[in-house]
Amino acid sequence: MRQRISRRELLALGGTAVLASSAVRDVAVEARRPTVPKFRSRLPIPAILQPVKTDATTDYYDISHREAEVEILPGLRTTIWGYEGRFPGPTIEARRGRTAVVRHTNRLRVHTVVHLHGGVTPADSDGFPTDMILPGASRTYTYPNEGRAATLWYHDHAMDATGKNVYMGLAGLYIIRDDAESALNLPRGAYDVPLVIQDRAFDARGAFVYDTFRQLAAKGGTILVNGVPWPRFEVATRKYRLRIANASNATPLRLALSSGLPLVQIATEGGLLPRPVRLSSIPLAMAERVEVVIDFSTYPVGSTVVLQNLNDANLSGVMSPEIMRFDVVRPEADDTALPERLSDDVRPIPVSAAVRTSEFVFAGRPMLGLPPRSMWHINGRRFDADRAIATPRFGDVEIWHIHNRRWLGLLGLVHPVHVHLVNFQVIERNGQPPLAHKTGWKDTVSVDPGEDVKIAMRFDGFHGRYVMHCHNLEHEDHSMMARFDVV
Ligand code: C2O
Ligand code: CU
Ligand code: CU
Repeated sequence: MRQRISRRELLALGGTAVLASSAVRDVAVEARRPTVPKFRSRLPIPAILQPVKTDATTDYYDISHREAEVEILPGLRTTIWGYEGRFPGPTIEARRGRTAVVRHTNRLRVHTVVHLHGGVTPADSDGFPTDMILPGASRTYTYPNEGRAATLWYHDHAMDATGKNVYMGLAGLYIIRDDAESALNLPRGAYDVPLVIQDRAFDARGAFVYDTFRQLAAKGGTILVNGVPWPRFEVATRKYRLRIANASNATPLRLALSSGLPLVQIATEGGLLPRPVRLSSIPLAMAERVEVVIDFSTYPVGSTVVLQNLNDANLSGVMSPEIMRFDVVRPEADDTALPERLSDDVRPIPVSAAVRTSEFVFAGRPMLGLPPRSMWHINGRRFDADRAIATPRFGDVEIWHIHNRRWLGLLGLVHPVHVHLVNFQVIERNGQPPLAHKTGWKDTVSVDPGEDVKIAMRFDGFHGRYVMHCHNLEHEDHSMMARFDVV
């Protein structure tokens, strides 16, 4: 097995001799990696974090950032940096309208920052990349949880170090529930299953290998779901709700079932879609989340179905098209429903409401020097914590027109663009209206090389200083990120 940057990515680099030669040299380096059997480990479900205190309005949590040794690959120990020393971190379950106050204590030797991805969060709790928690220190984050029921995640956001910190394990889920959703009788409890997908590279002794390939992309050939490689999950002949998060640093996925049956998507990052959408495959770039319902009553007891990644091995940097396997092991009655009407909360933002349209060009270029590296910019500039690139007024609707421009038409990688504070709607992709399953509330939109995407959003959460950035974490760190201020 070898670790590699995609062939298509290399072709994209072809003309940029300096960068390409270094990339080729990197690719030639065989990562000696233990062979990992597939579908041996059972799917673990990340533990739900219990509050240390609750009162009439608020739940209080304590989380420490700790180094720990865990068994990810059979028989080997891997050092991780984890929330509560776990990989992935414990899940926080929040109720819409109840505030969560989370006190984070950094017991690591590196600086950390915590960001609730998808949260509508006051600026001082949002995890601005320079608001570091120093080793030994604590910081308290307040989350009002006023947004819709949705699958969020929290992860590290330290300036220039997010990629490494997340790769080492600093990520966990944060699920908001609300009454409208609870009324729907969707699968719940043990049938409401989170799947945190991450790819990692390991060395022969089981340690994580964090290699950014000259700041292009940190990838690995081993796919982990909820922290274990290619797990299997025993299911009954009934419906399951799967909350799927691509928490990889730099690996875009395309999900499909080996049975060829469609996936029924019910939610985007910002919660339920207006109605379920049946899809033969679902693209899922870094930081995107989808929720799907799979009805295993269409499969006989004793059968198996594999959740696949259809992005070719080269493009995604992974060795196999498999992610995990569902083993249908027992019959079971099912009294849950998949309503044809899921939510009335996804009214389109009228374009006419926008008071401003701004252009943002996401582009990379090689940085000369030894060794050469790639650098990533927005509108030609690197991240500057002291300079806002946009200043939307509180309450305004804006349209942001995002371009993924290749360098000299050559250097091109996907940029999943994430905007803090807001949920947005994709109103146009390359001049066309978005597909049905892309019309929901989103916080991250994947933009391929050469593409341009228009998003619309209303800045009515909070005033203050936020960021938007590429969610390829190596691009973010080097330094495809920009500050914006809601004024
Ligand atoms: Cu998922 Cu700015 O982050
Ligand atoms: Cu975010
Ligand atoms: Cu990018």
